[in-house]
Amino acid sequence: MTDHSSTEGSRDVLATAVRTLTGRPPVLVDARHFMTGGTGRITRAAIPEVGALRLEVPAEGIAVTAEAVLVYEVPPHRRRDFEAFQRLLRDHGARSLGTDAEAWRTATEKDLTVERFVRDGIPHMPTLTLSRPSPEAAAEAFDRLGGDVWARPTVGMGGSDVFHITTGAQLAAAARHYAEAGTDWLIARDAANFAPDGRRHQYRVVVLDGRVVRAVEHVQANPDAPCNECRGAVSTLLEEGELPGGLAELAVAATKSLGLPLAGVDLAAENGGVVFEANVHPVFGSVGGLETVAVPYAAAHLGPW
Ligand SMILES: Nc1ncnc2c1ncn2[C@@H]1O[C@H](COP(=O)(O)OP(=O)(O)O)[C@@H](O)[C@H]1O
Ligand SMILES: [Mg+2]
Repeated sequence: MTDHSSTEGSRDVLATAVRTLTGRPPVLVDARHFMTGGTGRITRAAIPEVGALRLEVPAEGIAVTAEAVLVYEVPPHRRRDFEAFQRLLRDHGARSLGTDAEAWRTATEKDLTVERFVRDGIPHMPTLTLSRPSPEAAAEAFDRLGGDVWARPTVGMGGSDVFHITTGAQLAAAARHYAEAGTDWLIARDAANFAPDGRRHQYRVVVLDGRVVRAVEHVQANPDAPCNECRGAVSTLLEEGELPGGLAELAVAATKSLGLPLAGVDLAAENGGVVFEANVHPVFGSVGGLETVAVPYAAAHLGPW
């Protein structure tokens, strides 16, 4: 089950993973039918199999008996509309790693993520949340963090609407941008995540059930651009043992703090290791994403429950 308005492509990779594991194609259902305002229905299937469910969208002629429900590629800004259905999935005993609405919300809304990290002692750069601040309040927060910060919307993805800010004029422009978008935002002290060659770099570590299944390094030539692949960062798959010491443990701890069974954790090695965010549905990655993440994630739904 994915949001079929999303073009990110994870749905196809997951379908391949399911076919690889079961020899059968999965039924692809649009998650939007089960969001607020949708007409999708869920009931327990009238077969003895544990956890089997009936998913129906009568208006679309969809009626599926599901042994397991893989939920993926639900965009961050749609997740609140999916929460009621997540609770129904859980109440119906679905075999699914995607039923914890609270964990999704804490990871998706980055002000909540930071609060949780503070509670659990997960290292991150000092961060302040701003909600339509006055110019004075924004300037005060900027000064408190040392005048070299990154601004992010509380809900976002792919490095969109993320700005490196070192001047009052840039701060004012960012404040206008977020006010126009009607969104709250965060500013965090710059992680100074520079490699010896002067380029920005960081890591994406994917954790499944408390274990690192994939680690990638992102290198960004533009020091003012986020280290997201879609913003021009170059990504390299790391072998086991190539991740700087402590980062695997930090990614696992961050994932556990948020309560996610799967997460793609963005983190930098500088400052003793700091977490930027944890992605609920990390993009699988074109090199090895199927084998390293999609297959074990799908297998976790199909094994003993
Ligand atoms: N404090 C910071 N120092 C350095 N880079 C940062 C900082 N905060 C954000 N970034 C950069 O911006 C990127 C995007 O922020 P992130 O929280 O990962 O949001 P998303 O990827 O969902 O847009 C980070 O992965 C990182 O490259
Ligand atoms: Mg990110």
